[in-house]
This record gives sequence, C-alpha cells and structure tokens, in this order.
Amino acid sequence: MTDASFTIVAIDGGAASGKSSTSRALSERFNLLHVDTGSFYRTMTAEMLRMGVAADDPAGIREATGKITLETEVEGRRAHMKINGRVVPDAEIRTAEVNANVSHFAAVPELREALLAYQRGQTTVAQNAGFPGLIMEGRDIGSVIFPDATFRFFLHADPAERARRRAAEGQEDSITERDRLDRSRKTAPLACPLGATDIDSTHLTLEEVVELLSSNLSHRLSPAS
Ligand code: DC
Repeated sequence: MTDASFTIVAIDGGAASGKSSTSRALSERFNLLHVDTGSFYRTMTAEMLRMGVAADDPAGIREATGKITLETEVEGRRAHMKINGRVVPDAEIRTAEVNANVSHFAAVPELREALLAYQRGQTTVAQNAGFPGLIMEGRDIGSVIFPDATFRFFLHADPAERARRRAAEGQEDSITERDRLDRSRKTAPLACPLGATDIDSTHLTLEEVVELLSSNLSHRLSPAS
C-alpha cells in the first residue's frame, strides 16, 4: 500500500527524448528513487535472446518468464533489476543486438504482463529504502503503470535532434524505427496520455528541461539535503 504522501513522477517519451538524463537529475535533486523501465525491457530481451526464445513465440516467452525471478537492487538513488539474482550490466543490455530486438519483445503482451506487477512494486522498494517518492521513466508509465501518478510528463523532440543526441553519446541506434514499432503496437503503445504534460525538448537544453519539471515538482517536494 502506497501512503498518501508518497510521490510518483512518471516520465514517458520516445528513444533519446531526454528521459534518462532528466530523470537522473530530478532523482538527485528531490531524493527520488530513479527507475528506468527501458533497462527492464532491455534486460528481459537480453535474457530471452540468451535463452534462445524468439519474439514471435508468445507461448515460449510466457514459459520462459515464468521461470525467471525478478528482484531489485538499490544503488544510490538508482533501482537495478536483478534477474535470477544478477544485475545484467549496461554493456550487455545496450548492445546493437538488444537495440534491434527490444521493441519486438516489448510488443508482446506476455512479456509486458511479466513486468507489470514488478514495475508497480517499485513503490514498495522505494518506501522500504526510505525515499519520499520515485521517478519512473518509460513508454507507458503515465498511461498503464501509474495512470494516477502525482505528476505525469511526456517528452518529445524532433527525430533529427534525437539522432544527434544518440550519436553524441557514441551510440548507434535506429531510434526512428524503434519509435515506429513502439507507437504502432497494440499493447501500451507509446503516446502522450490524456492529462499528462507534453514537453517539446527539441530546442531546450537538458538544464532547461530539468528546471521546467523542477518548477512543477517543487510545489510538493523538498530538495534533497
Ligand atoms: O528507454 P529505452 O530506449 O532504453 O527502452 C528500450 C525499449 O523498451 C523501447 O524501444 C521500448 C521498450 N519499453 C517499453 O515498451 N515500455 C517501457 N515502459 C519502457 C521501454
């Protein structure tokens, strides 16, 4: 049970929309547990690939996810997913192979279902670790996971600007194709949920986006000491 003073901040948006950097900065500023659900989908995808389960085999995915144990390790203000007792490092979940496959696995209802309760349970993880709230980023946080979140933001930016940001990070990632798949899937598609605050970050710096969101959060949350 989440107590009434606990704050949930939902940040959704496409690939390279600035969600992760913004969420990280806000989690530090307001002492919130930072939960990156994209890393959960990536970890699951890496595990399915390792197990030899294909994205077009929902029965195989259901069987495989049924055998998996999910836990959370909190490191600083970051929540890491542990799959069968292990946190899978970034080097294994941000590969070209995972980039190319993750949207296909994320479109499968059986895989999304396997992560649903786990994602909602992050409120308990945050409360047990003494955080006054959490900030969760993804594609369906404000629409499916926490439609009643205290704050719901949706970030978007021009595809050219997002490609530039990914290249600046040294990452090769077909963000347009991933967004197309994420937007067009039947289950929990990427879209700005009704009532969420839609922010176009194309012409804003990271600092400007962080300030914009902070000015909303500061009505309810105190800065971290
Ligand atoms: O945020 P990211 O780019 O690391 O996410 C990787 C993929 O995971 C993304 O292409 C779609 C999927 N995803 C999702 O379907 N739902 C979420 N809540 C988070 C990510």
